[in-house]
Parts: sequence; structure tokens; C-alpha cells
Amino acid sequence: MATTTTNQAGAVGPEPFLKSAEAVPAIPVAGLTDDPKLWVCFYQGTWVLATVVPGIISIQRSFTPRRGDVVLASPPKSGTTWLKALAFATMARGAYPPADAGHPLLRLNPHQCVPYMERLFTAGEEGLMETLPSPRLMSTHMHHSILPTSITKNPDCKIIYICRDPKDMLVSFFHFVRKVNPNISFSDLFEAACNGTSVSGPIWDHVLGYWNASKASPETVLFLRYEDMLRDPAGNTRRLARFVGQPFSPAEEEAGVVEQIVRLCSIEKLKNLEVNNAGSYGAPFANDWYFRRGGTGDWANHMTPGMARRLDAIVEEKLSGSGLSFA
Ligand code: A3P
Repeated sequence: MATTTTNQAGAVGPEPFLKSAEAVPAIPVAGLTDDPKLWVCFYQGTWVLATVVPGIISIQRSFTPRRGDVVLASPPKSGTTWLKALAFATMARGAYPPADAGHPLLRLNPHQCVPYMERLFTAGEEGLMETLPSPRLMSTHMHHSILPTSITKNPDCKIIYICRDPKDMLVSFFHFVRKVNPNISFSDLFEAACNGTSVSGPIWDHVLGYWNASKASPETVLFLRYEDMLRDPAGNTRRLARFVGQPFSPAEEEAGVVEQIVRLCSIEKLKNLEVNNAGSYGAPFANDWYFRRGGTGDWANHMTPGMARRLDAIVEEKLSGSGLSFA
């Protein structure tokens, strides 16, 4: 296992990056040549952030799920933060009623409530997982194909996946990385998305891996779409609750618990909380970067119709025959 170092804030220092680079060469994400924090490398058929490769290797070698574990999986910028808030609020509602003034989501960023496995394992802090009460919640950006079989072949471990129209994901990613490098070019990122080399790419493989797994094993993989969640957040929260074996009771329905969770986790609510306007749960990304505008269709403000048609056509061709479509 690669040795890792962290600074006091838990940020990954240069050592794990160099170690991972020894095994898997890292290259800059298009347009991010001067910032190694955002370099990617091709690892087992997937493009991953070079900084978290040691964590991925460590997860693959040593992660042992506990009965009832729930892994939230997503490509970056597809609604991960929202899903973390909803899953946490739903699964912890016994201990933390969603309407309580002391609810953890009012003082903690959703990423602090649900640990990001790659970061934790890269930092050598995987022991923290042992301190979490069951059923545990955790998250990953790994493709389904590179998850350890201890997760994918485990009937006692569930996966909830969220994805989003790749065009809106790309625009969201552009705004996110622009905070790291204001000179980033949208067209460079667009080309990377089209040729499959963007972070967590190829995006079609990411989505298809979980889509196929959800078809093969609907009781262990729940496939959600950001756009569906926007259309019906309460209905999808009920789906999530049923999936993890904690359906809302008639009494909870009567008391409006589902609506309370949806309100607590809405972008309007979370975005305006002090915790999400200050600090960082993990450098170099600040908490407020995770809440921008939400919604659908911002791609139209950044892409020409021709660019949109090109990316749509690539994605549709890759998804053809799967029964899944973003058109
Ligand atoms: P935009 O940049 O399009 O606004 P991730 O959490 O995977 O990093 O995704 C971030 C995207 O989800 C951002 O999209 C962000 O605004 C949006 N988002 C964050 N919290 C949300 C919430 N509670 N409801 C809906 N969208 C949310």
C-alpha cells in the first residue's frame, strides 16, 4: 500500500501524488496544466484524480463492508452533495428528526456527514470508518468496474447512484475548477468530456456500469437521476428510504417527515447556512463551491447548439442499446 501524508486539515500532501505517479502516470486535465491537484491518470480503464489513486488502491485491497453499509456513488458534479444530504437525513431520521433545530445538516456540510472514501483512504484515515454507527453511509466517485467485489458482490452492501445530464455536469465542473484555476478554458474541458478523458471519465462508462448493475441487481443498486429528483424530490426520497429498508411509516407520512427532509436538503436551505458559506471540509475545495445554482439547462449558456449536439450524439451512441438515454 502506498504511504500517504496529510497536513493538519486532512488535505493530501505531495507524497501520495508522487507515489501514485510512480505506478500510474498522471497527466494534466485539459487546461489545468499548472495545478497537479487536478491532474488525472488512467487507472484500470478509468480516468481518476491522480491524488486519490493511493486511496482507490487501498479501498480495493482492504475495504471490508459492514452489513447494512450504503455506498453513495456518482460522477463529480452530478448531485453528490444533495444525495448525501438526503440519504443522511433519511437514514438518520430516528436519531435526528429533520425538523429539529439541532439537526447535524444545519451545522455540518453534507460531505462531513458522509465521508468520501477515496479521500479518507488516501489520507490513511480509513480507521474513521470503524467509528461510524451502522448502517454506515459513505461515498465514492469510482466507476462500478473498479469497485472491490467486497462491495459489488455483497448482498449486504447497497449502492445508491446518481447521475445527471453530462452537459450540465460539464458546466458545473467548469465553474467548480474555475475556482482553482480562473484561466481554465471551457472548450478544453469540453474536448476532454467528448474524448472520455475528463475526471471520472469516460462519463458514459461511469453511468453504464451502475445502470447495468442496477438492472442486474435492483435490490442492491438504486439508480437515480438528478433531473428526476428535481421533478419529484419527495417521491425519490421515498424510493431511497424503501431501498435502504427504512420506508416512511404512515405516521411519518402523516407528520410530513418526507417534506421536512426535502426542505432541509434543498439547495435554497443548504446554500444559505453559515457552515456552507465558510471553510472547507477538504482542501483545496471550499464548502460553498458545492452549491451554485442547481437545476437543469445551464449548458445552454456555455455551449453552442453544435457543441451540445456533438456531446449528446457521442453519449447517445455509447449508451445505445442499454435502455438508458439523456436525450
Ligand atoms: P450546478 O453547478 O449546476 O449548480 P456535486 O454535489 O456532485 O458536486 O454536484 C454539484 C451540483 O449540484 C451543483 O450544480 C450544485 O449547485 C448542485 N447542488 C448542490 N446541492 C444541491 C441541492 N441540495 N439540490 C439540488 N442541487 C444541488
